[in-house]
Amino acid sequence: RVAYVNGAYSAHGEAVVHIEDRGFQFADGVYEVWSVFDGRLADFEDHMTRLHRSLSEVKIDIPMSAAALGVVLRETIRRNRVRDGLVYLQVTRGTASRDHAFPADTAPSVIVTAKRLDLAKGQAMAAKGAAGVTRPDIRWGRCDIKTVGLLPNVLAKQAARERGAYECLMYDEMGLITEGSSTNAWIVDEDGRLRTRDTQANILRGVTREAILKLIAAEGIELDERPFSVEEAKRAREVFVTAASSFVMPLVSLDGVKIGDGKPGPIATRLREVYLDQAR
Ligand code: PDD
Repeated sequence: RVAYVNGAYSAHGEAVVHIEDRGFQFADGVYEVWSVFDGRLADFEDHMTRLHRSLSEVKIDIPMSAAALGVVLRETIRRNRVRDGLVYLQVTRGTASRDHAFPADTAPSVIVTAKRLDLAKGQAMAAKGAAGVTRPDIRWGRCDIKTVGLLPNVLAKQAARERGAYECLMYDEMGLITEGSSTNAWIVDEDGRLRTRDTQANILRGVTREAILKLIAAEGIELDERPFSVEEAKRAREVFVTAASSFVMPLVSLDGVKIGDGKPGPIATRLREVYLDQAR
């Protein structure tokens, strides 16, 4: 495998950044993840737009043009011979002697990695449906920024894994689900309404979420963009999550409570199908 680090490609096992990179010391950086189908980047522009927004919100300079970044992403995909998979881009504020305040005259660090994804495995999991758990959302007030400060998300995902589950849905102090540890959360409620939390709240505006919004309109499915509680999710007909890394993944249980009949529902199944069709 090969990784891109600050202008050069090197063997994945030998690719390094400095110990005083601010990404390492302060989680002072942002990232994006694209899915790759047949060697092509899905939703290239939308992820790039969100990257620029994240950079601007944390006041990190844009390291290179979107076109140049696109070349680096595609070259990393090519060098890793990724047909179907994921490409990861991280931009940090750069390397400087440790001081909380921004360093003067430091160039951002840029790293890119790519990995293969077994689409058949994901497809098999989606056909069966996955398990979910819930935990309080203990994150900060700017979850709209895609920062590398992901410790609460890591702890949430680990809580899921320790219970044999795929994803952890996090909930706010009102008991309303915010999002998954690395996904956006959706339900088809007991009245058959498709619901997902609005992005005015403190969550990430998922690129996959946005793509699904467009598909829903085309499918003639109505959306109720309104938060839902853990209890509503457990009583829902369907629960599913969306992300560049999962596409659309049905959850068939939450904290051990069976969702609907315990099988992936028709809406999640249909949305996964149409999402993959248009992305591929
Ligand atoms: N995660 N919410 C959170 C907290 C996320 O980390 C992600 C993506 C999403 C979905 O966003 P998108 O549809 O743009 O992938 C929602 C990526 C895949 C990750 O951290 O690996």
